[in-house]
Amino acid sequence: MLLEGKKLLITGVLMDSSIAFHVAKLAQEQGAEVVLTSFGRTMKITSTIAKRLPTTPPVVELDVTDTEHLDTLATRLGEHVDHLDGVLHSIGFAPQGAFNFLEGTFEDVSTAMHASAYSLKSLAVAALPLMTPGSAVVGLTFDAKFAWPVYDWMGVAKAAFESTNRYLARDLGPKGVRCNLVAAGPIRTTAAKSIPGFQTFEDSWDERAPLGWDVNDAVPAAKACAALLSDWFPATTGEIVHVDGGVHAMGI
Ligand SMILES: NC(=O)c1ccc[n+]([C@@H]2O[C@H](COP(=O)([O-])OP(=O)(O)OC[C@H]3O[C@@H](n4cnc5c(N)ncnc54)[C@H](O)[C@@H]3O)[C@@H](O)[C@H]2O)c1
Repeated sequence: MLLEGKKLLITGVLMDSSIAFHVAKLAQEQGAEVVLTSFGRTMKITSTIAKRLPTTPPVVELDVTDTEHLDTLATRLGEHVDHLDGVLHSIGFAPQGAFNFLEGTFEDVSTAMHASAYSLKSLAVAALPLMTPGSAVVGLTFDAKFAWPVYDWMGVAKAAFESTNRYLARDLGPKGVRCNLVAAGPIRTTAAKSIPGFQTFEDSWDERAPLGWDVNDAVPAAKACAALLSDWFPATTGEIVHVDGGVHAMGI
């Protein structure tokens, strides 16, 4: 099995539509032991949804913008796992104001940056005491090379996120930790539905993708995350793997 015996920390399971839910499911099916994170009011929802996985995993509290949560994460995880072979960052948040490029305030932008970009570094550093050489950090982006309709300051946050991945790869490489991202096409999740005008992506993606695209199928993106968490990309770091039906490679 691809992830036999691996111990993985998986953030971002909110509903069973969450990309992270599909990563957790595949990971368990492929032999991994999984610990989930959630925070605040969503702890209860995540714990309920966790019961839909093949094995119900523990849920540890982590608001990735909360310094105390981050500082105590490794100790609290220690109650469930003695080390980590991989960490999935599947977190994104921006206030509604951030989805209006010309009107978005810096407060909106800084909140988006904190939760959606800086958090990759925060999570990796918080988990680092438990990570062993050969382990992996994997995150999810939405291709930040382009200016998209409606994505606005979240697109800028994703550009920062992608850059953060490269700097993390630089600094964690000498410790034997790989850092990679999956650039997924649009998937109908809670986060996506909270973006005003998300429909704009949904309508055109399937037409533009040489392989076609199903906005209700998170499995292709989840499979790529599982592969990057496995031992099958031993010399790959600072990379972005596109799982978008091929849209990134097309002119029109
Ligand atoms: N859905 C898409 O179309 C799509 C495409 C490309 C990339 N992504 C990325 O995939 C990732 C997962 O999103 P999703 O689409 O599965 O949506 P989702 O709503 O299911 O998951 C987002 C998660 O982020 C968590 N979160 C938000 N703020 C947090 C904080 N401060 N601390 C800890 N957790 C926090 C939420 O609780 C939720 O579990 C995000 O990074 C998103 O940008 C999504």
